[in-house]
Amino acid sequence: MAAKVSKLNIFLSNLAVMNVKIHNLHWNVVGPEFPLIHEMTERLYKMFEEQFDTVAEVMKMQGEFPLGSLEDYLNNATAEELDSRDFGEVEVLEILDEDCQKLIDFANEVREDAEKNDNFQIVNLMEDYLAVYAKYHWFVRSMLLTDEDMGDNEDMQEDPRETKAKK
Ligand SMILES: [Fe+2]
Repeated sequence: MAAKVSKLNIFLSNLAVMNVKIHNLHWNVVGPEFPLIHEMTERLYKMFEEQFDTVAEVMKMQGEFPLGSLEDYLNNATAEELDSRDFGEVEVLEILDEDCQKLIDFANEVREDAEKNDNFQIVNLMEDYLAVYAKYHWFVRSMLLTDEDMGDNEDMQEDPRETKAKK
């Protein structure tokens, strides 16, 4: 490809890769929380599928050609796809945690560039996407928290042995 690829086309490529990547995790997650993660990833791939179409249509409205081949998406995406295999639940959540952060960072970059060019259609779109990515990122990080991560809260509780000693 000769021409420099726009940030929006890289964003579109990431959505195409994420759509397939999340399907992979949706099909292949294993563990006792399978239904929960299977359903959450279904909501995610439906979201990416819809955003993929919306971003391309907005590009057309603005006179830009959206990339249209899987080869182009793979060559331009910053998101990385995965081979098909079993994925443990925690592994899936860690992958989603990392990808959510990357999507947030990249959507922020697209938003900033659009703002500099007074392209408010893209600014608004990215703000909507940033809000929903932040929500999913919160879900994922909360699911990754363990009892050990909450150790600080326990320290604040009074030690029953000390209470006894004071008596
Ligand atoms: Fe499905």
